Amino acid sequence: MVFISSLIYTFLLACSTFALPTVPIGKRSIDDKLFTNLQLMEQYASAAYCRNNQNSPGDKVSCNSGTCDLVQKANVTSVIEYASELATDVTGFVSLDATNKMIVITFRGTASIDNWITDLTFKTVDTNLCEGCTAHAGFWQSWQDSRKEVLASVERLSNANPTFKIVTTGHSLGGAIATIAAADLRNLKYNVDLYTYGAPRIADSTLSSYITKQGNNYRVTHYNDIVPQVPPMFMDFVHISPEYYIETHNFKSVDAGNIKVLEGEKNTNGNAGHMLPDVLAHLWYFNGISNCQLTSKQKI
Ligand SMILES: *[C@@H]1O[C@H](CO)[C@@H](O)[C@H](O)[C@H]1NC(C)=O
Repeated sequence: MVFISSLIYTFLLACSTFALPTVPIGKRSIDDKLFTNLQLMEQYASAAYCRNNQNSPGDKVSCNSGTCDLVQKANVTSVIEYASELATDVTGFVSLDATNKMIVITFRGTASIDNWITDLTFKTVDTNLCEGCTAHAGFWQSWQDSRKEVLASVERLSNANPTFKIVTTGHSLGGAIATIAAADLRNLKYNVDLYTYGAPRIADSTLSSYITKQGNNYRVTHYNDIVPQVPPMFMDFVHISPEYYIETHNFKSVDAGNIKVLEGEKNTNGNAGHMLPDVLAHLWYFNGISNCQLTSKQKI
């Protein structure tokens, strides 16, 4: 099934790549501090896949998959945790990181990535994020389902810790929800840093460029990961910019020099330029990001 959908997307991608003008690219590399942050926030995104971070607010955030050591070493307490069995699949936690002085809002990716890619629809809805801004209907609904609880928690934590940075993060579907959450929180005048890993496109140019202009966005992609290539550009979906593109293949360790910063909502110099997208590359972001929810046989 994944193979078939990969072929279809490859075809669609090829069409959209050739149909669109290429956008001028700025190529910068990243410094050590940002590299450390990209790793730390990836580990937060990974932690959202662990059952123990979805159902027991008040305890330490930890991962029996060994994929969140940086989080475990810090003094991190989860404040709210939630898991949804609804179709919108919104699951995650809000935590207070006293070591790194952050309030972190983390969203999990979907429980079944293959089915989710195959079933992904391209329907959009109006949002109240900016004038004329529509977003992917499913991603928007996921945020609506969690918004009230998350906002109440962020308000309380930021009042108690006014100097702490507010960060949203997530992998896959979780990255899409984190993007919409960041836009909404910024509209409420919070300063928010956004980190996403293998996130799909969430909207057309009106909303995506609005979020790009808000700034402090770190959209990380890996090699030929299929998910950032959907929904496709010919359906009028574009990415927020810039892209932090990890050019190393699966299972390889990554250093700062392997990450390229690429500008432009339609840039095809990174992930979007790959003609043969892959699901395995979606699961490898510095480590097996979703390993906590996989059986030992499935783990990568
Ligand atoms: C950990 O952080 C909490 C605040 O979240 C604080 O009350 C506690 O003293 C800290 N513990 C250590 C060992 O630093």
